[in-house]
Amino acid sequence: MCGIIGYIGNKSINSILIVGLIRLEYRGYDSAGIAVIDQGDLEIRKEKGKIKNLEDLLKNSPVEGNIGIGHTRWATHGEPTKLNAHPHIDCFQKIAVCHNGIIENHINLKNELIQKGHLFRSETDTEVIPHLIEEELLKDPNQTIKDVIPGLIQKIEGKYAIVILSEQEPDKIYFIKNGSPLLYARNNEEGYLTSDIVAVIPQAKEYYAFRDYEWGWITQYELHLFNKDAQKIIPEIKEIKIDPIHLEKGNYEHYMLKEIYEQPDIFRKILNNRLGEKGKIKLNEMKLPNTILGRISRILITSAGTSWHAGIVGKLYLEHFARIVTEVDLSSEFRYRNPIAEGDTLVIAISQSGETADTLAGVLEAKTRFCKVLSFVNRLESTIARESDSYIDLMAGPEIGVASTKAYTSELIHLLFFSLYLSGIKWITNKEDREVLFSEIRKLPTMMEAILEKSKQIQEIAKIFKKTKDFIFLGRYFNHPTALEGALKLKEIAYVHASGYAGGEFKHGPIALIDENIPTICIAPKSSVYDKMLSNIQEVKARKGKIIAIITEGDKNISQIADYFIEIPEVSEYLSPILSIIPLQLFAYYSALERNCEPDKPRNLAKSVTVE
Ligand code: AGP
Repeated sequence: MCGIIGYIGNKSINSILIVGLIRLEYRGYDSAGIAVIDQGDLEIRKEKGKIKNLEDLLKNSPVEGNIGIGHTRWATHGEPTKLNAHPHIDCFQKIAVCHNGIIENHINLKNELIQKGHLFRSETDTEVIPHLIEEELLKDPNQTIKDVIPGLIQKIEGKYAIVILSEQEPDKIYFIKNGSPLLYARNNEEGYLTSDIVAVIPQAKEYYAFRDYEWGWITQYELHLFNKDAQKIIPEIKEIKIDPIHLEKGNYEHYMLKEIYEQPDIFRKILNNRLGEKGKIKLNEMKLPNTILGRISRILITSAGTSWHAGIVGKLYLEHFARIVTEVDLSSEFRYRNPIAEGDTLVIAISQSGETADTLAGVLEAKTRFCKVLSFVNRLESTIARESDSYIDLMAGPEIGVASTKAYTSELIHLLFFSLYLSGIKWITNKEDREVLFSEIRKLPTMMEAILEKSKQIQEIAKIFKKTKDFIFLGRYFNHPTALEGALKLKEIAYVHASGYAGGEFKHGPIALIDENIPTICIAPKSSVYDKMLSNIQEVKARKGKIIAIITEGDKNISQIADYFIEIPEVSEYLSPILSIIPLQLFAYYSALERNCEPDKPRNLAKSVTVE
């Protein structure tokens, strides 16, 4: 899950590469480096740790130039050290390579190269690439890198996005794409290569997302593109439509807090875009015709992490409103269980980034079984969006914080809209029914704002529990996934052990964990399972466990027995997971601050898991 950037233009390379790497830092941040052609020489600068360390190095040891590549790393092979940082070079420091992905057969390749006398400096898989290029060029000095790339593609196995800079070819940056994201971007006098378009806006105005096995090179004004058989391709260049405002933190200390607070306005935009007149649901970008959707008899959802939690809520929506049998799989498991999927099975892939390798693998697997694939993505230029038969745009705007927040609630509301859309096609709900639901759905943004006004109270609770080492989260039915998601948020940004359970499972083992040192966070809004959640709370109290409860405003029962409670507005049960997660997002955020953790770039994590 690394971040790659390449630039050719008239500007000074340092600021372009560093700014681009900062924008890509969410993809990995254990080391960073750049390679630049500086007055004809290939110069390398790299440092361990965050990009700030590289910036400091460049202040003391500057480079100049107008062409260069950069990389921010999430370590797969080799510890996060300066030596293992990219770019990696050949024996003569004439070729520099940055890579995102894994070269599966790097050990054999490395051994072969060592036997031929190549000197390796790092423990990475990536380092075989510059040496393979060097080895091929040595065979015939009249060759250039373009002559050796087709053979390189045949040799290396795995997933990769590679950019290559050569001292011998100072006006080009070569690239190869297979399995990991890589895009070309440009304006009328600069060329870019990037893992994510957010790294090059607002400068770049147009882009092209490379397909697998595409390779070539960019110059300042041109893109030269080829397929695996070295046939020239004319790319379909598209306009970039991302508003740069999403990329700034504004008055917020962290992207995560900004993205939590953005949810009401994002919902206003979504509702305005999706809710039509007379109960009509507008999913205009969704290209699957009603003739196909009407015949769907089974749905398989595949997703990971937070998106998997959304998938569990999606199953409840699809079965409740559209009456379609729905299964939910972790992407990393889906691809191994040989799922039963026929032509009338719809596979839904949920992915904020649209680049999660396990989820992409599920999409490709589903296509081999001739299933239709519909993806719910937040990045329309992503690989999953491109590989799916159709997609639904989450419309959450770029989500920079590693911990997913606004994308999660956007996934929930879009899974609800798709379920209601199907219920209309199948004549299960009519326009009047949907209009009644819409009237409550339209209140969600105001309800979200009411919850956000409680942030100080939530921050106080996080402060009280800043030393606690373990948390239990309990929820049932629509809020079982909320318990899982609340626990994940706390784990991933505050590094606290937290487990989410279905309330009904509590007595089947987890209750043994309860004592006065382990607080239980119970998601217990007014619902069909309220009494059962009340029982869970009483079971915890009977064992001296502390209770933090998410309850409906005005609840007089649980507010009397919980040690702490956060109220959310009264809402229909099926909408409660969209609201009940917000206090838990804030709880995780403030817990991270109380524990001196960095919410936007938590240790060991990356925003997009593009390796399996
Ligand atoms: C969520 O907070 C995590 N960062 C992670 O679990 C994430 O949801 C998961 O990696 C899936 O990402 P995706 O939605 O981009 O596919």
